[in-house]
Amino acid sequence: MNSCVAIILAAGKGTRMKSKCVKVLHPLAGLPMLSHVINLVQSLQFEDVFVIVGHQAETVSQLVSEKKATALLQEPPRGTGDAVLQAKGALKGFQGPVLILNGDTPLLQKETIERFLATYEKENATLALMTVCLDQPEGYGRVIRHEGGRISHIVEQKDATTDERNVQEVNAGIYLCDADFLFKSLEKIEPNNQQNEYYLTDIVGMAVSEGVALLGFEARPEEVIGVNNRADLAKAEAVIRGRINHQWMMQGVTLIDPSQVRIDASVKIGRDSILYPGVSLEGETTLGEDVSAYACRIRDSRIGDHVIIKDHCVIDQAEVEAGAVIGPFAHLRPQTVIRKDAKIGNFVEVKKSVVGEGSKASHLTYLGDAIIGKDVNIGAGTITCNYDGQSKSETIIEDDVFVGSDTQFIAPVRVGKGALIAAGTTVTQDVPSGSLAISRVKQENRRDWVKKRNAQKKV
Ligand code: UD1
Ligand code: CA
Repeated sequence: MNSCVAIILAAGKGTRMKSKCVKVLHPLAGLPMLSHVINLVQSLQFEDVFVIVGHQAETVSQLVSEKKATALLQEPPRGTGDAVLQAKGALKGFQGPVLILNGDTPLLQKETIERFLATYEKENATLALMTVCLDQPEGYGRVIRHEGGRISHIVEQKDATTDERNVQEVNAGIYLCDADFLFKSLEKIEPNNQQNEYYLTDIVGMAVSEGVALLGFEARPEEVIGVNNRADLAKAEAVIRGRINHQWMMQGVTLIDPSQVRIDASVKIGRDSILYPGVSLEGETTLGEDVSAYACRIRDSRIGDHVIIKDHCVIDQAEVEAGAVIGPFAHLRPQTVIRKDAKIGNFVEVKKSVVGEGSKASHLTYLGDAIIGKDVNIGAGTITCNYDGQSKSETIIEDDVFVGSDTQFIAPVRVGKGALIAAGTTVTQDVPSGSLAISRVKQENRRDWVKKRNAQKKV
């Protein structure tokens, strides 16, 4: 195969998205739409990958350089033909095929591009375009063919006659074109259309009139969905999620109901893990092997082997080591580490804390800025009072401590190894190891008090 370069068009605003955010940065399966396109092209190991940027150029360029591609500025964006022309200088002297893709067509697959390239070479084409027949061709440019079936030209929906609009074959916006022919033709394009734009699609008609070898390549409808509005975005999201879920099932992960599981493109999952309906795995999340996750949301977190995450948990930027059990209704916030075999039960919130191996906080507890050792029992209703309105302080609880229910730790405070905190205690000073800490108002029982009060009421 000849060496090849790619140009990705990403300068348009995406007016139909009605968004503050430029279209190509809208996320799909947790990654900006444009990342999917650049990742695809990078996987093909082309000589060079250029991305045409314009709207919000700075933000888009940042992504482009993170992805080791080259951004070229189109200012102002005057149409897809004008966009490709911006690469002329960068491609000076390049002889060979140029792959052109739209930044808003994120579902293309590597094998399809490989077949497209192979067919282009085999047919010795000068220009090839991907086409597809759609039941609902609205919004796309239509492929107009001569009576004999050969392609004549492309007409955009806005410029099409009623008859032309009835054509179901559309232009997918993916082309392979010989560099010389491409840039020669682009310079001849005129903005003679409803949108006053320089249409890249005009090079198809030019190829026909100049008699160069033109090839139509049929693509699969789901791969060439162009995202123009939020409905297209949701359609694309469904396709990509379906693919990701399928891929994890092939890798040995059970999804009880794939239609109710969301896994971002950057997530990793170990074998024999089971995902129940309502699981959402987001960002840079990793799950080990044999994890069971019920309806929950996990973002940018590391979950070890054999962990069980019960229903309605939110886990954000936290780490849960092997064998731990979390939830139901638990909230693990950033910088939380739950060590091996620990247990975090219902209505427990943990923030920036370490819960040691085998330790338990089973009910109704807030642990913030706490370091908790091994085999500690945290009773129901325990609260680390870590904030005095100005600054945060730490609570340190050493190994084997037993914390009775309804305890408050007024931080900073340290509890030594093996100490016992009596239920209802407000811990205001450090507790030496092995000691009992108890702070309660002594209970008084007033005999027949209720009877006397009731008698008074009647008078
Ligand atoms: C385009 C095609 C249409 C095809 C469809 C496939 C043209 C004129 N039309 O239409 O035939 O059916 O894609 O999805 O090419 N862009 C720039 N600079 C610009 C304008 C656009 O870089 O000046 C970029 C956009 O960011 C986008 C891509 O080019 O990623 C396509 O632009 P868009 O406006 O979405 O074109 P469509 O109307 O969808
Ligand atoms: Ca489009």
